[in-house]
Amino acid sequence: MEHREGALGKDALTLWLVQSTIARGRVLDVDAEAALAHPGVVSVLDHTNAPILGQGVDEPDLELMVLQSTEVRFRGQVVAAVLAESAEAAREGAALVRVSYAEQDAEVEFGPDTTLEIPDKVNPDYDATSDDGDVDAALAQAEVVVDQTYRTPYEHNNPLEPHATTALWDGERLRLVEASQGPYAVASSLAPLLGLDVADVVVTSPYVGGGFGSKGMAHAPAMTAALAAITAPRRPVRLAVTRQQMFALTGYRTRTVSHFRLGARPDGVLVAIDHDVVEQTSRWKEFAEQTATSTRTMYAAENRRTVHRLARLDVAVPSFMRAPGEMPGMFAHEVAMDELAVACGVDPIVLRERNEPTVDPETGKPFSRRRLVECLQRGAELFDWAERPDDARSRADGVWWVGTGVASSTYPAKVMPANQATVTSCEAGEYRVEVGAVDIGTGSRTAMKQIAADALGVDPSCVQLEMADSSIGPATVAGGSSGTASWGAAVVAAAQLFRADHGDSPDPGLQTTASAADIPAAEDHALHSFGAIFAEVRVHRWTGELRVPRLLGVFSAGRIVNPVLARSQFYGGLIMGLSSGLHEDSYRDPRFGHVVTQDLASYHVAAHADIGDVRAEWLDEEDFVVSPMGTRGLGEIGIVGTAAAIANAAFHATGVRVRSLPVTADSFVS
Ligand code: MOS
Repeated sequence: MEHREGALGKDALTLWLVQSTIARGRVLDVDAEAALAHPGVVSVLDHTNAPILGQGVDEPDLELMVLQSTEVRFRGQVVAAVLAESAEAAREGAALVRVSYAEQDAEVEFGPDTTLEIPDKVNPDYDATSDDGDVDAALAQAEVVVDQTYRTPYEHNNPLEPHATTALWDGERLRLVEASQGPYAVASSLAPLLGLDVADVVVTSPYVGGGFGSKGMAHAPAMTAALAAITAPRRPVRLAVTRQQMFALTGYRTRTVSHFRLGARPDGVLVAIDHDVVEQTSRWKEFAEQTATSTRTMYAAENRRTVHRLARLDVAVPSFMRAPGEMPGMFAHEVAMDELAVACGVDPIVLRERNEPTVDPETGKPFSRRRLVECLQRGAELFDWAERPDDARSRADGVWWVGTGVASSTYPAKVMPANQATVTSCEAGEYRVEVGAVDIGTGSRTAMKQIAADALGVDPSCVQLEMADSSIGPATVAGGSSGTASWGAAVVAAAQLFRADHGDSPDPGLQTTASAADIPAAEDHALHSFGAIFAEVRVHRWTGELRVPRLLGVFSAGRIVNPVLARSQFYGGLIMGLSSGLHEDSYRDPRFGHVVTQDLASYHVAAHADIGDVRAEWLDEEDFVVSPMGTRGLGEIGIVGTAAAIANAAFHATGVRVRSLPVTADSFVS
């Protein structure tokens, strides 16, 4: 494993991307003459000279088919790349490349007239529609109806560390140091397009500065770096994606429009739930956000219907962003529930208790654990809910209207099967444990070491952990709140098999590789985490300024392996939820579809000054139906419901109902 040692970046060339300035059409010509004459520029890659990709691949991922044709599919697409001896020369060279185009009309926004299609599936593999009972009949007869439309904007993942790749082609094997949530996933998506075996694409992601889903798959920049490296063998190629480029090339959350219809009895008991979603994908690659899937599981009602409709546009393809689907969908559902509580004159917590299902409404299976009501009740206690006035706009503190709101949260528990781990005995009672996990800032290195030590029955200091390297073997991504449970299950399986074969005082050099064992009961249960989010919002009487002095999440997320790391993840989710509640909004130029708020000044993410008292608690539990450690996963549940809790608290403060994110000052002053 010599490639894990040493710096790959020595003697590196720098790569700079040239992006299309049209939204749709063809590249007529790439004039590289001036760029090539610029001091330090080594070469300019375009569709005429880039190595050919995807030979023999049936349906290649068009996002990764970089520089393979003249076709321009969105504004910001990579149309050329400049390789140079320094970052300055590369950047200056890129500015000198002249690209001419034949432009076509593009459709970059969806509206009332856009053609919509129901996709076959929504992510990762859910039906796009569901239909139980007779929703229309139930709504026609319902005594109380909430019928409203809720909107969430385009949002961009903004991990502090932008995407970056260092690539080296040694003539036979491609090595990438990649800012990734899944080095094995990157290797296995690039390799076939490059005509290489997965084993000949070695991807390492030793330290990663966040991802929030944007690093959950390989994007075009990584492939561009690979292509450039192949054209310059034995010299490493470095590509640092700029913050601005990330707004075109590394994924985002689609805008969503959720039309909700809730029908209920006067006491708030639901008889019908109807959730109709319109959202967007690119015309050239489908990404279908699973916005209504949590609606299928959340509350009991005899008549339930969900549908997702997609607009196919000439824009960059959307991708994963923390709790894709659950985040926008539960914003809509939980604000609708607050509206129902007001309409029925029922306390929002009582309303949720009255609609608690005994089994998963969608599948009829029992939940492995469903402790939503306990989360709500514990949160109510911590948040002094009993003292909350029933009426909106009834509390003020000087010039600030003060309100509190609540929302439920949920996230499915997933254990990805395709993971393997290897345990090797070393000298002096030590073990080497290899698993293709990656730590994107969550502390998964620490958690994996704890899990390995526990499974081997040794102190964590006796475990040497190797991870974040695709050559370790199949491993799934740090995503879907599934990392700890999925990699951990493989580590536990390998440790148990090792101990069964070799006992607890093994000779050095013995080795066992294993994949996670199936848990048969998992099939018979619905596997979800739950939580309750509480927010206090203050709205300035004259300016409409919003502050969130208090934010609390109480979660039921399975066993907590490491409380310090878990709290940090919950805080991160809650704060990102606050950020989506109050700030995040990628504004597109309606003519070209590119994002104009493409920096951290105009795309604000919550910073210290936006955050007040944030708390997270969890219920003490273990869930062995999900994983052998009893964990369920907690990376995403903190963001779900948080924006709804804030919008609901803003309503309670002011009496003004906001149904679109972000909730901004202009909603409260007129
Ligand atoms: Mo996440 S959006 O599953 O990295």
